[in-house]
Amino acid sequence: MGRRLVLFPVPFQGHINPMIQLANLLHSKGFTIIIIHTKFNSPDQSKYPDFTFHIIPDGLAEEHDDEASTSDITLFLKQLNFNCFVPFRECLANLLSNVENEDPISCLITDTNWYFTQDIADGFKLPRIAFRTCSICCFLAYQLLPLFREKGYLQKQDSQLEVRLTEFPPLKVKDIPFMKSRDHRVVDKFIRQMIEKTKAASGLIFNSSKELEENELIKIGQHICIPTFVLGPLHKYFPASSSSLLKQDRTAISWLDKQAPKSVIFVSFGSIAEMDEAQLSEVAWGIANSKQPFLWVIRPGLLQNSQELVRLPNGFLEAEDGRGYIVKWAPQQEVLAHPAVGAFWTHSGWNSTLESICEGVPMICSPFFGDQMVNSRFVNDVWKIGVQLEKGLARGEIEMVIRRLMSEKEGEEIRATAMSLKEKINSSLEEHGGSSNQSLESFIDYIVSL
Ligand code: UDX
Repeated sequence: MGRRLVLFPVPFQGHINPMIQLANLLHSKGFTIIIIHTKFNSPDQSKYPDFTFHIIPDGLAEEHDDEASTSDITLFLKQLNFNCFVPFRECLANLLSNVENEDPISCLITDTNWYFTQDIADGFKLPRIAFRTCSICCFLAYQLLPLFREKGYLQKQDSQLEVRLTEFPPLKVKDIPFMKSRDHRVVDKFIRQMIEKTKAASGLIFNSSKELEENELIKIGQHICIPTFVLGPLHKYFPASSSSLLKQDRTAISWLDKQAPKSVIFVSFGSIAEMDEAQLSEVAWGIANSKQPFLWVIRPGLLQNSQELVRLPNGFLEAEDGRGYIVKWAPQQEVLAHPAVGAFWTHSGWNSTLESICEGVPMICSPFFGDQMVNSRFVNDVWKIGVQLEKGLARGEIEMVIRRLMSEKEGEEIRATAMSLKEKINSSLEEHGGSSNQSLESFIDYIVSL
């Protein structure tokens, strides 16, 4: 094909994974891949000998090095958008000027959260394709934020929290995706810029599937008038293990090998979510009291301000009585595909949600912030493949929901729906007629025509 593509991932695990998967996919279709990346959370180049990498200075203080998460994501991303502007422009200028004996660069593919890249692409008259790594339903909710503000929902008063939004059923006021931040004006402006610059892009990719979010895709078309491609679930083409920032503990798999089919609850809250000691204690007691075998990922940083060892509540180890196994980071995709896993208690990050759906594993959802709130509501109310913990982290509800979902008759319908959605979503990747596969072909034709 003889075309080069320049990709620029946002340096967080949940964004790096799908961008690298997309890079692998496009490379398998004949494109040459160039990755521009920050120093912070930089990818392991040795895993991708066929790609070319260019590092740019990100202006972050040294103490951020090797930190896989941060407590105010929006402020952090805003800072990165500002810091990277000049180095990114210089890097791209170099790539565009060194064209001797090189194939042409077709386009730039950047995360929608890199809103600053649109102006740079325009300056070079290089088409930019925006890549939205999160769900379509969440993007739709972000579109509607001005309306929600006008209606006074964003104050999230206690009396309103359970009210359904007539403007976006089945969301409740409490599900409106808002990022935790010290300053909500920063979040507002960030989302506005992200949407505005996405609309100015030459195209938009979602890591989702029409089989899952067709209605939301139609609704997004009323707001966004650029060519849109739904290519996911991307992890089914190329697994996320190679782009893991933390070492995946494979003893999790040998432990699972010794468990009975569908008996284990897998507990993992992604790479950014944090909880305080009281919440961690509710999680621990909820799991122990359910009497179900469990595999629990306690990542450094899951407990606020603790990068090191987490002390579990007194009496927990006696109570769980050897039923569980705890790791710092797991090979999550393999875990979810393991026959011993019967349910996934998740924070509803989009990658985790997709990975679970693709294996037919029903979910217990504890959203922490942002898109997780919307994903969780869709799992509970639209796709009906899981249960949202409506009371936050409370041991009584946790214990009850684990039992209900995993062993009781009441959970049977949810388990069956999860299995049938698995078939549907996986069919979207089929070579002949699969919706994501067709969209991929259109996408390739489109970027070659640019
Ligand atoms: C972030 C946001 O929090 C999330 O809401 C958004 O949708 C994407 O960006 P994160 O919180 O890390 O992501 O969650 P998620 O999207 O689920 O991504 C986590 C990734 O890490 C998944 O691909 C998962 O397989 C991987 N993972 C997780 C592991 O490899 N091992 C683990 O133990 C846990």
